[in-house]
Amino acid sequence: MPKLKVEHLTKQFPTRTDPLIVLRGVSFELKSRQNLAILGPSGSGKSTLLNLIGTLEPPTSGRILLDGVDPATLRPRQLAAFRNRQIGFVFQDHGLLPHCSVLENVLVPCLANGPVEPAKIERASLLLRRVGLADRAEHRPAELSGGERQRAAIARALINRPSLLLADEPTGNLDRTNGRLVGELLVEMQRQESAILIVVTHSGQLAEMMARRCELDEGRLREENK
Ligand SMILES: Nc1ncnc2c1ncn2[C@@H]1O[C@H](COP(=O)(O)OP(=O)(O)OP(=O)(O)O)[C@@H](O)[C@H]1O
Ligand SMILES: [Mg+2]
Repeated sequence: MPKLKVEHLTKQFPTRTDPLIVLRGVSFELKSRQNLAILGPSGSGKSTLLNLIGTLEPPTSGRILLDGVDPATLRPRQLAAFRNRQIGFVFQDHGLLPHCSVLENVLVPCLANGPVEPAKIERASLLLRRVGLADRAEHRPAELSGGERQRAAIARALINRPSLLLADEPTGNLDRTNGRLVGELLVEMQRQESAILIVVTHSGQLAEMMARRCELDEGRLREENK
C-alpha cells in the first residue's frame, strides 16, 4: 500500500539579510486512495511545500518518506528515476509539448526508460479514453480546449502508475464548469489508480472534492474540522 509520510518539514530561502522562512514544521500522513487539499494565501508556501514533496527541491530540515524511501538518501540519477516512477505532476499550466501529439505527450514520462514499449502505448490510449480524449489523440495541444489540455496532463501524470499524484492549481486557468470536471476527473482517476492525491488550490470548489483540507498559514499546516 503506497504511503506518504511528511515529518517536520522546514524550508528557508537564503537572502542577502536574514533567511526567508517559508515552512516552519509541516507534518502529515496519507495512505493510498486518500486525498488532501492545501489552501492558503498567495505566498504562504503552498507550491514550495508541493515541490519538496515532489522531490524537486530538498527541505532545509525534516523528512519525506514515500513507500518507505527517503528521497534525500538517493543520488541524483536514482532520485530522477524515483521521481519519474513514483510521482505524477499536474500544474496550472498544462506543460504539454506543443509539437507533439496528445498521445506522444502522454508518453513523454516513458522516454527516460529507453524505447517506448507497446504496452505503454496501449496504456496511454486507455488513459486517454478514460479522460475522454480518445478522439483527440492525434491533436496538438494548441488544438485542444483548456479543459482538454488539463485532462491530457492528468493522463500524462498517470502513465507510469505513480503512487503519488501532485497537482498545483490544476484548475487555475479554467472556468467553473471545466474546473469541476477536471477536479472530478482527478479524484476519479486517483481512486482507480489507488494513488495518493495532493491538490494545492485557491478554489473552494476543488478543495471541497477532497476528503481532507488543510490551510498553510505562517509556515504551518492547519487541518480543517479535525
Ligand atoms: N527559490 C526561491 N528563492 C527565494 N524565495 C522563494 C523561492 N521560491 C519561493 N520563494 C518565496 O517563498 C514564498 C512562498 O512561495 P510559494 O510559491 O510557495 O507560494 P504559494 O503559496 O504557492 O503562492 P501562490 O498561491 O501565489 O502560488 C514566497 O514569498 C516566495 O517569494
Ligand atoms: Mg503557488
